[in-house]
Amino acid sequence: MDMRLFALVLPSIVGLCSSKAVLPPGPVNGALGGSVTFNTTISSEGPIQTIFWNFDDGSGSGSVPVITVSSGTTIDGPGYEGRVSVNSFTGSLELRELTLGDTGLYLVSMITSKPESGSTTLNVYGSSITLSCSAQSSPPAQFQWALNGKMLDREGQELKLENVQRNQSGSYICWAHNSITLRYTASKPSVITVLEKISGAEITGPSEPLIAGKSSANLSCQAAAGTSISREWLKGDQPLSPSHRITFSEDKSSVSISPVESTDNGEYQCRLSNPVSTDTVSYNLTVNYGPEDVLIKGATEVEEGKMVELICFAKSEPPANFSWTTNGTDTSVTTAKYIIYNATYDDSGNYTCVAENAVTGLSRSSAVHVLTVGGEGSQSDNGPNVRAIVGASNQQANSPDQITYADVSVFNKKDGGTVELGTPETVYTDVRTNLGRAQATTVPEETQYAMNVKMLIYVP
Ligand SMILES: *[C@@H]1O[C@H](CO)[C@@H](O)[C@H](O)[C@H]1NC(C)=O
Ligand SMILES: *[C@@H]1O[C@H](CO)[C@@H](O)[C@H](O)[C@H]1NC(C)=O
Ligand SMILES: *[C@@H]1O[C@H](CO)[C@@H](O)[C@H](O)[C@H]1NC(C)=O
Ligand SMILES: *[C@@H]1O[C@H](CO)[C@@H](O)[C@H](O)[C@H]1NC(C)=O
Ligand SMILES: *[C@@H]1O[C@H](CO)[C@@H](O)[C@H](O)[C@H]1NC(C)=O
Ligand SMILES: *[C@@H]1O[C@H](CO)[C@@H](O)[C@H](O)[C@H]1NC(C)=O
Ligand SMILES: *[C@@H]1O[C@H](CO)[C@@H](O)[C@H](O)[C@H]1NC(C)=O
Ligand SMILES: *[C@@H]1O[C@H](CO)[C@@H](O)[C@H](O)[C@H]1NC(C)=O
Repeated sequence: MDMRLFALVLPSIVGLCSSKAVLPPGPVNGALGGSVTFNTTISSEGPIQTIFWNFDDGSGSGSVPVITVSSGTTIDGPGYEGRVSVNSFTGSLELRELTLGDTGLYLVSMITSKPESGSTTLNVYGSSITLSCSAQSSPPAQFQWALNGKMLDREGQELKLENVQRNQSGSYICWAHNSITLRYTASKPSVITVLEKISGAEITGPSEPLIAGKSSANLSCQAAAGTSISREWLKGDQPLSPSHRITFSEDKSSVSISPVESTDNGEYQCRLSNPVSTDTVSYNLTVNYGPEDVLIKGATEVEEGKMVELICFAKSEPPANFSWTTNGTDTSVTTAKYIIYNATYDDSGNYTCVAENAVTGLSRSSAVHVLTVGGEGSQSDNGPNVRAIVGASNQQANSPDQITYADVSVFNKKDGGTVELGTPETVYTDVRTNLGRAQATTVPEETQYAMNVKMLIYVP
């Protein structure tokens, strides 16, 4: 006796888009072997005389009639005999004994008080399995089927399992029976494992805010349906590897990070798969940390009247709150930027920014940022009680950056008055050039340059 078993597994997911007047846009989902009802949004006073339901499987061969009501007579379309019915008051269609081939677009047109039409999509989910058994026997054998050693109430050469469920997994045997010889012969078992599609995967994470260096986090990944054969964890797009802080549970259904660090921030993915499906789910882990690396960026020297923008940076999650002190005294500025629109000499001083993280409760100061308005002050050792701050550029010389001194004898004071500065032997200790600070120098009498000199002076 020669026996064979064949298994045929047909998974199906097909999606089409549609939407129209008398039908909700859908899609409608149905289970293989089950039934669905396409409910229209209308209802008429009496039976509708004309209803056309058509089906388009999207293959491009056009639509075929499903059921037709014409002058009150109902005709089932070819292939739909006995498994369709239409509600004559609403035009709603019930479709039973769903097959995978029923996936597609359903179109209705009917005439009530006026012509109405609509369409919607049906997706049929599920797998069907057909086992078939053959035996050399005369007279031809009769067949019976058993699952896990228990006879099924099924006879025939083929065993069709529609929309198979998990509990239909097991070892199938077919018994061939010769009615004359009265011999029973069993086939070799065929083991069928029914795997549900994995769906509804979800990562659950910690509910309390995490603090770097202190908290631990457990992420666990579960699917609402389906048997997961393998689980994979990714961070970003890279596989997550175990380390002294990162450990996986034995079945990889959860990962524990202890303690969490700022580098653990990011998007985690869990990928569940079995031979028939894969489901991936993402989770954003937020680890609160900082502030760290607090620093001020901005000018250290500006001319009077110019705008100054100091910006405080801090690595922090959540973003830090800032406050500023000048010369060690608190200010009312609580933004990352400290802006002086019109710098005056009085704005010179020591600026410090304090970053504070409301969640970690930590705060940290930047280093002192020294701002000088008008350039760097200088004090002659034994000169007059005047400090000159000079920014100059030589508009005449071929190398405009080469300035070694400035021939200046009159300074405008801040209040508009002038300060007399003595003889050409006046010692300028701090003539600045575009290249930096020049040596202190006396003015050579024989040299006269036309200069575009801007200066600001400070008289204590
Ligand atoms: C149509 O209506 C019936 C009865 O209210 C309901 O059971 C069925 O789920 C509806 N069909 C759809 C596709 O919503
Ligand atoms: C399998 O489970 C379904 C419900 O999920 C039940 O109706 C059916 O009887 C079960 N079949 C077997 C063979 O246990
Ligand atoms: C993480 O899970 C492990 C074991 O599953 C448990 O011991 C630990 O307390 C959990 N940690 C957190 C933060 O929930
Ligand atoms: C995680 O964050 C990224 C970037 O902000 C965002 O694009 C993504 O949608 C988030 N993912 C989840 C699951 O919230
Ligand atoms: C920090 O700033 C946020 C708004 O950015 C504000 O809601 C919060 O109250 C501030 N926290 C502190 C401690 O100032
Ligand atoms: C500015 O800071 C320096 C040290 O960085 C200190 O010597 C000086 O006294 C401070 N000036 C003021 C006005 O606080
Ligand atoms: C800057 O301040 C000076 C002195 O108070 C004033 O004369 C000048 O108009 C101001 N400039 C701007 C742009 O506000
Ligand atoms: C800082 O202190 C210096 C020296 O006392 C003073 O000239 C300056 O105006 C102060 N700056 C600020 C912004 O208070």
